[in-house]
Amino acid sequence: MEKLEKLIEISIKLSSEKNVQNLVNLIIQNSLEFLNCERSTVFLIDEPNQQLYSYSGIGIDQKEIRFPISSGIAGHVATTGEILIIDDPYNHPLFNKEFDQKTGFRTRNILTVPLKNVEGKIIGVFQVLNKIDNIFSDDDLKLSLAFASISAVAIENARLIAEQKHQYELLQQAYQELQQAQETIVKQEKFATIGQFASGISHEIKNQLVVLMAVDFIRKLSPDNKKILQYTEYILEARNRIISLLDEIRDFSKSKDYEKIKADLIPLLDRTVRLCRFDVDLKKMTLNYDQPKIENAFALVNEDKIQQVLINLIRNAAHASQPKSTISVFLNQDDDNWIISVKDEGCGIPPENQEKVWQPFFTTKSIGTGLGLDICKKIILNHGGQIYFESEVNKGTIFFIKLPKVKTN
Ligand SMILES: Nc1ncnc2c1ncn2[C@@H]1O[C@H](COP(=O)(O)OP(=O)(O)OP(=O)(O)O)[C@@H](O)[C@H]1O
Ligand SMILES: [Mg+2]
Repeated sequence: MEKLEKLIEISIKLSSEKNVQNLVNLIIQNSLEFLNCERSTVFLIDEPNQQLYSYSGIGIDQKEIRFPISSGIAGHVATTGEILIIDDPYNHPLFNKEFDQKTGFRTRNILTVPLKNVEGKIIGVFQVLNKIDNIFSDDDLKLSLAFASISAVAIENARLIAEQKHQYELLQQAYQELQQAQETIVKQEKFATIGQFASGISHEIKNQLVVLMAVDFIRKLSPDNKKILQYTEYILEARNRIISLLDEIRDFSKSKDYEKIKADLIPLLDRTVRLCRFDVDLKKMTLNYDQPKIENAFALVNEDKIQQVLINLIRNAAHASQPKSTISVFLNQDDDNWIISVKDEGCGIPPENQEKVWQPFFTTKSIGTGLGLDICKKIILNHGGQIYFESEVNKGTIFFIKLPKVKTN
C-alpha cells in the first residue's frame, strides 16, 4: 500500500516535467529509492538510426551513451520485449563487463524491463542494478513494471509536447517566411509601378525641357554678360540633372552599372553646393562649404551620381531644419578615404527610425517617396564607399560619406 502511494506520488511528479532529459533524470532519481537499488538507467530507442541511447545513470558522467539497438542486455530487451532478471551477470553471455572495468563498479544483479507506450510499442528500456543487500524478487519485478509503465507514458507525453512545440515553431517560421515573401512581392510591385509610371512621364517631362534649350539662345545673345552666363549655366546644369534623375527613376527597378572616372571632389562639391543654393527649400537657410586647404581630392567616381547623393543629403537636411538655420558641407580625410559630411541643426532622427531611414519607401514627409537614402546607399556602395550618420533629436544630424582615395602618382 505504501509503495502504491509512493508510485502515485512519483507519477504526479513525472507528469509535470516536460523536458525529456530532465524527465529521465527524475525517473532515475526516483527509481533508486523506490526499487531500493544502487544504480538505474533509462535507454531510449532512436528508431531512424536503430540505436539505443541513454543520458546515463546516477553516479556516472552525464554523457550520452549510444550503441546498436541489438547489443547487450538492454538491446535484447529492446528488440524482444522480454523481461530479464540476472543474478550472476559475469556469467551471462549478454553482459558487457567493460563498463564495470572502466568505472570500478561491480554489478551483482540486474533487472531489465521494456518501456512500452500506451499502444504497447517499445520505446526504450528501464534497467536497475544491484538490489541493496539482496537480489531482485518477484515483487521487485512487479514494482519495476509499474514504474516502467508510468515512466514510459511520461516520456511519450514529453516527446509529444516537444514535437508539438517543434511543429509550432516550424509553422511560425513558415508563416514568417511567407510574410517576408509577400512583403518582397509588394515591394517589387511598387518598384515596377514606379518604373512604368516614370517612363510614362519622363518622356513628357523631357519634351517640356526642350523649352530650356532657349537658354542657349540667351547665352548667344549676351556673350559678354557674365551674370547671364553664370545663371544660365546653372539652368543648364539643372536641366541635365533633371534628365539624369528621370533616367535614374526609370531604371530604379533594374540594377545598372555606370562609368566612373578619376575626378576631383573639391570642385564637384563646390558645383553641387552652388546648385543647391538655388533650391527653393534652401532659400531661407545658410549653406556653408569651406573649400578644404588641400590641392585636390581624387576619387574614382561617377560625378553625376555623387552629385545626386549630395543633393539628396542636402535636401533632406533642409527639410529637417528650421528657416535661418545652417547646413554645412565638409570634406575631410583619413589615410585611405575622403570623408564628405553634411551637417544640419534640424530635428534629428529618433532612435526608433535610425535603421528604417535606409529602407525604400520609408518617409516621414507628406510628399516624400522615401527613396532618397536607399538610392544614396546603393550609389555609395557601388563606389566601394560607406554612408552612415550620427543624429540627436532636436540637435541635428550629420551624414558621412566615405569614398576611397585615388593615390596621385
Ligand atoms: N538630415 C535628416 N534629419 C532628419 N531626418 C532625416 C534626415 N535625413 C533623412 N531623414 C529621415 O529619413 C527619412 C527617409 O529619407 P529619404 O531621403 O530616404 O526619403 P524622403 O526624403 O522622405 O523622400 P525622398 O524619396 O523624396 O527623398 C525622411 O523621411 C526623414 O524622416
Ligand atoms: Mg530624401
